[in-house]
Amino acid sequence: MKEVLFVCLGNICRSPSAEAVFNSLIEKYGLAGELQCDSAGTAAYHAGEPADYRMRQFGKKRGYNLTSISRPFNALTDFYRFDFIIGMDRQNVRDLKASAHKESDLRKIYLMTDFCVKSKYDSVPDPYYGGAAGFELVLDILEDACEGLLQHIHQD
Ligand code: 4NP
Repeated sequence: MKEVLFVCLGNICRSPSAEAVFNSLIEKYGLAGELQCDSAGTAAYHAGEPADYRMRQFGKKRGYNLTSISRPFNALTDFYRFDFIIGMDRQNVRDLKASAHKESDLRKIYLMTDFCVKSKYDSVPDPYYGGAAGFELVLDILEDACEGLLQHIHQD
């Protein structure tokens, strides 16, 4: 079993969407016995809350069910449990690296857009203060990156 953790700032927009998109691929390819994922935020402001209403609506239009409840990243337990810890932007990756305890923790940290196959973005931009286009872009990038991530894990 490989375990993947998606991480953004608030864990109410980008990383719960990544979790939902990746879960739909796990289902589509029948990989539930091999792969599991979860999501977390580097900040705890929204801990205990469901995903942002707008993000849930845009996800639903594409058939994704965003069910996760926000929780903060836990450096004590998450580096131990997960094989891939994937930040949505460079600040997420910097924050994750700053909380790593050892070299093996650092080796688990990735940037989501590094798995993109079709699109060329260097981050999944935070949609929180913007309009509809930002939420659609998040889903566009995540759909591409999740396919690439799946290929990467299968090549391991
Ligand atoms: P996320 O988006 O990191 O994709 O969940 C954000 C959610 C909340 C805030 C910022 C980004 N906030 O500042 O409250």
